[in-house]
Order: sequence, then structure tokens, then C-alpha cells
Amino acid sequence: MTHPVTVLGTEELRAAHDLFGGALFNGPVDDEGWEFRGASYAPGRTLGVHLDGTLAGTAMSFGTTTVVPGGAVLEAAAVTRVAVRADRTRRGVLSAMMRAQLDDVADRGEAVASLRATEARIYGRFGYGVATRGRSVRLRGSGAGWRPGAPASGSVRMLGPGEIIDVLSGLHERLALRRTGGITRSDGWWRAVVGRRLQAREPVIAAVHTGADGDDGYVVATPGARDGFTRPLHVEDLHAADAAATAALWRFVRDIDLVGDVEAHLRPLDEPLELLLADPRDCTVTGVADETWLRLVDVPTALAARTWAAADPVLLAVHDPFLERNAGVYRIADGTAERVGPLGGAVVPGLECDVAALAMAYLGDRTPSELAATGWWTCHDEKAPARADAAFATDVVPWCGTFF
Ligand SMILES: CC(C)(COP(=O)(O)OP(=O)(O)OC[C@H]1O[C@@H](n2cnc3c(N)ncnc32)[C@H](O)[C@@H]1OP(=O)(O)O)[C@@H](O)C(=O)NCCC(=O)NCCS
Repeated sequence: MTHPVTVLGTEELRAAHDLFGGALFNGPVDDEGWEFRGASYAPGRTLGVHLDGTLAGTAMSFGTTTVVPGGAVLEAAAVTRVAVRADRTRRGVLSAMMRAQLDDVADRGEAVASLRATEARIYGRFGYGVATRGRSVRLRGSGAGWRPGAPASGSVRMLGPGEIIDVLSGLHERLALRRTGGITRSDGWWRAVVGRRLQAREPVIAAVHTGADGDDGYVVATPGARDGFTRPLHVEDLHAADAAATAALWRFVRDIDLVGDVEAHLRPLDEPLELLLADPRDCTVTGVADETWLRLVDVPTALAARTWAAADPVLLAVHDPFLERNAGVYRIADGTAERVGPLGGAVVPGLECDVAALAMAYLGDRTPSELAATGWWTCHDEKAPARADAAFATDVVPWCGTFF
């Protein structure tokens, strides 16, 4: 039996927020915190399940846009604040909310949904797959500095607290939409994530890089615990148009007086930090983790929206037990992709996969041949993986850079 899912009214949002906070071991939000976080709840997009008259689970989303290979920008849902009360778990509450949410997302015309997962075993069953990854890095504060010849162009200016959101929100939108996997942020996101910190007068270092064509990058960093007068810095947010602006912003934060090590999480896999340093070992990669969990909600639209490289035709059977309307055999050829038949019909596929495994290749994070070799995709024609690799190939490492 599936649980009834309702759209929560504004009067229930704070309880939903506290339920989510409690699931992450946070206490209830205070009035000031709610003033900022409440603004990030998009009207009509927070779902709840009540059991015995009490809110037992919640999941929300906000509308965003995302970039797919080739540069097209798709309407998308950003799914977040998903939680079930600890005394109501493992009885299908999340499953009911996921189903209702995906139907809602589809009704809104959003072809894909994405989320960040607390645990990697939760969302695959609902058709989400890891579509971008990021690496955690630490730059040694006492290192050998920058390599002679590493880019050092343009200028960097710091922003005052009153201008940070205005300047960075516009700049972020422009920069994020340049890269496959990038998403736009809502005003509520800026308010909940950055505005709250500024209101609490927490130390936030924000700076913009200006290159030959104007502002082309920014960084937001916060200091960690004091060690004497020295403090480590944590890079919270860094988006830049190119390697030169990236280099200038890393140089800026690393070279601030009294800064120890500089750390950042979920940075692009291809960020060239080691190539900028006199001693490449001053940059330690401390981890690689999943970033975007992507759900192709409308597979025909999503496949038609991205570009496909020149390749011999690929016939790919896609299974989607959770949203059966996506199932079928798709033909990728001549730069396009379209459904050409049902599963089990006359059209025989060379490759077969689940919709979650399709998401893993969709933005270019994984190749079809590595997915076939590891059992995520099934291969019926030994030539098919190489053809699919050619068709799915992109020249950009996908990355998002927004945590929500
Ligand atoms: C993760 C969470 C939302 C799951 O809610 P739930 O109502 O227990 O999920 P369901 O009962 O619908 O589970 C559906 C299936 O997923 C499995 N599942 C759910 N959570 C899982 C987890 N954390 N790890 C592994 N499997 C999980 C269930 O066992 C069940 O499998 P089955 O169909 O084979 O029996 C809940 O445990 C929770 O709130 N966790 C803490 C907060 C959190 O991590 N939220 C996610 C934010 S991204």
C-alpha cells in the first residue's frame, strides 16, 4: 500500500524543515534562521506524508535550469530536504514521495531532476544515477608556491558584505551555464546559503576576478579554526570562465596573509591545480565523490536535447520500472536520438540499460564501454560499446558546483 502524499501548505513548511533538520541531527531552526531558510521553499513544491495525523516525511524541490552536452539549457527540478522521521522509516514513505515528486516534476515540464545524496544507496531505485563527480583538494599553506609561468593575469577585487549576493548571483548564472552539468540557483538558495551567513556576521571572503573581457570568475571562502594567528581557508564556491581566471582566484585565496592550508570539496575533476604549482605535491586530492545524482524524468526529451557526436547508429534499450512511459528502444544516429520501438519489439538493441545507468553516461561522466564492462549496461553486440562511446563523447568534464 502506498501512502497518500500531500503538497504542504506554508503553515507546515517550518515543521517540514525541522523534520529534515532532525534527520541530519540538527536542532529546530530559530526564528532568524527560518527567515532565511524559509525563503528557499518554492511555493507548492514541498511534499509530505502524514501517518497517524503526524508529518512523517517530506521532500521538496525548486525549479532550476541545467546545461546538457552541446550547451542546451533544460528546465529541471532540484530535489532537496528529503527526510523521513527516524521512527517512521522503512515503510515506504520515501518511495511514495519519490513517485509523487517525479509525477509533479513531469507535470511541470521539467525533463530532468537532480539531487545531492547523503547516502549512495538511496536513490538508484528511483532512477537517479551519478552524473557528475567532484574531488576534494587541499593546498599546502607552507608549500613552494606557484610555478613560474602559471597564469597570473587580470585583477581581483574583494566584495563588501552588502554587494556579495547581488554581484555573485548574476555572475554565477553566466558562468554556470557555460559548463555541462551547471545549474542556475534560485534567489532562495542565495538567501539560505549566503545571506544567512552574512546576517550572522560570519567572516566571508568574496572576490571577483576581472579579465580582458570583464568579470569572469569569483571565489567565496570562509576561515576555519584558528591556529595561533593563522587560519585555514575553505573555498565554498569558485566559478571561473577559464584556466586563467581559475588560477588567479586560487592564487588570491592561497596568498592571503595568515592563511594556512586551503581546502575545497567537490571541485571539477579537471581543475588544473597541480599544473599551477611549483611543487605539484602541494596539492593533495583527499577524495573523489559523487556530486550530481541525475534523473531523466522525460527520457525522449532529454535525449533529444543533448548533442551527439558522429558515430555509427546505436540502438539502446532503456528500462524504467518506476516511470514506464520512458521505456523503449532509442536510436542514436546522425546527431539525434529518438525512440524507435518498445522494449521486446522488433527492433533489436545492441545495448541495454536502466534509466539510472543512462544518467551516468548522459552528461559524459562515464563512458558506455566502462558501464558495459562493469555490468551497468548489458551488451548484445560487441561493436556497440565503441559506437556508443563515440556518440556519447563530450569535450567537457561535466560539473555543477552548486550544493543544495
Ligand atoms: C533515506 C530515507 C529518506 C529513506 O526513507 P524511508 O521512508 O525509510 O524509505 P523507504 O521505506 O521508501 O525505502 C525504500 C527502499 O529503499 C531502501 N532504503 C531506504 N533508505 C535506505 C538507505 N539509507 N540505505 C539503503 N537502503 C535504503 C529501503 O530499504 C527500501 O528497500 P526495499 O524496497 O527493498 O524494502 C530516511 O531513512 C531518512 O530520512 N534518512 C535520513 C535523512 C537522509 O539521509 N535524507 C536523504 C537526503 S538526500
